[in-house]
Amino acid sequence: MAKKLWSGRFQKGTDALTDDFNSSIAFDQRLYHQDIRGSIAHAKMLGKQKIIPPDDADLIVKTLQEILEDIEAGKITFSVEMEDIHMNIESLLIDRIGDVGKKLHTGRSRNDQVATDMHLYVKDICAIIIDDIKQLATTLLNLAYANTETIMPGYTHLQRAQPITFAHHLLAYVEMLKRDIKRFRQVIEMADTLPLGAGALATTTYPLDRYFVAEQLHFSGVALNSLDAVSDRDFCIDFLEAVSVLMMHLSRFSEEVVLWSSAEFHFLTLDDAFSTGSSIMPQKKNPDIAELVRGKTGRTYGDLISLLTMMKGIPLAYNKDMQEDKEPVFDAFDTVTICLRTFDKMMATATVNAQNMRRAAAGGFSNATDAADWLVKNGIPFRDAHGIVGQLVFYCIEHQKNLDELSLEEYQAVDPIFNKEIYAAINLNNCVNQRKIVGGPAKVTVERAIAINRGQIKKL
Ligand code: ARG
Repeated sequence: MAKKLWSGRFQKGTDALTDDFNSSIAFDQRLYHQDIRGSIAHAKMLGKQKIIPPDDADLIVKTLQEILEDIEAGKITFSVEMEDIHMNIESLLIDRIGDVGKKLHTGRSRNDQVATDMHLYVKDICAIIIDDIKQLATTLLNLAYANTETIMPGYTHLQRAQPITFAHHLLAYVEMLKRDIKRFRQVIEMADTLPLGAGALATTTYPLDRYFVAEQLHFSGVALNSLDAVSDRDFCIDFLEAVSVLMMHLSRFSEEVVLWSSAEFHFLTLDDAFSTGSSIMPQKKNPDIAELVRGKTGRTYGDLISLLTMMKGIPLAYNKDMQEDKEPVFDAFDTVTICLRTFDKMMATATVNAQNMRRAAAGGFSNATDAADWLVKNGIPFRDAHGIVGQLVFYCIEHQKNLDELSLEEYQAVDPIFNKEIYAAINLNNCVNQRKIVGGPAKVTVERAIAINRGQIKKL
């Protein structure tokens, strides 16, 4: 059995159960890249500061690079007895270069090491997620561009409310995604402080150059308090919060996709490649992807809550509880990226059933507000206009007609002020295209919004 790097004061080896329970290598091996980057920067700094001989530092750096290549080539098997990724890599280094390898951990603790790895990791994954969000936003903008004239009902309370276009509806999600990108940028900022140099909790007596390490690892600053540096996981919580909000957005969108692909709505037909069937009902084509995205949202909330709960009771500084920070972060990252990527393809390949959308907008009196607004333009106070159109709607329901199917006589029977101009006012295209102030669904406005969005997203 390999000897533990910390075994000096122990008279006995650890029980196998202790190794299993205590070790994190099964999951933290995915930090190998960040861990090696951090160690290379640390070794270079030790050499530069003459804390270790510069030649030793060079050999350590070179060997760490070889270890990195070997890990990526699948040549390394990690060991549970070596507990975690940090000690696995350090012991590999010592296996390869002996005593020189033993100098790497000078002036460093696993506590500031793991904190540094997590900072690097969170920054790395935020950048990946931002790219994925941009991809989805671009898909939605393209879909919107093709649907600026696709009239559909806008809803409140899931009741048809006012006519909009499918493009306008999609742009609402683009707004959410832009905020999501900003949120992940903020997380990067929160993680942008280097913990390394904090040591176990109280820094070190060696003359470490923390600013040099920060520069090597592309951190904009160094942590100012060593206790906080090793025991801060706020940036992980911020990350999980950003993931949760993004997933909440995708979940709302999924709910709409599920509704839209039902026979009752039939607004959207999902591509076969992004749908699934039933084992018993031969006719079924199910929107499983959207449902799973909606379902997995709960799981990312769980990740957030477990980390918040884990952190709430631990005293300063590092405590082993904090090893539990990793799986929620990894799980949330895996979940959100597969959701974003699959959702993107599902939307890119879906067929929009424009006729059904328009039919739905034509029913349900979604142009009733426009009828009231027409009365207002003709001198009727809005509250009275609301009442008059309410009577018309009641009449229509009784006679199973839409507002545009009423004759002028029928209009005038409710109020003599009506004339034939009312028909243009309640025409769906006009209802949409007269809402052209910024933020509105008119084709010109939406086209401008799409162009603005393309520019904004590039810069986010
Ligand atoms: N695997 C540990 C973690 O993820 C590394 C830090 C261990 N530090 C210690 N003092 N036991 O938190």
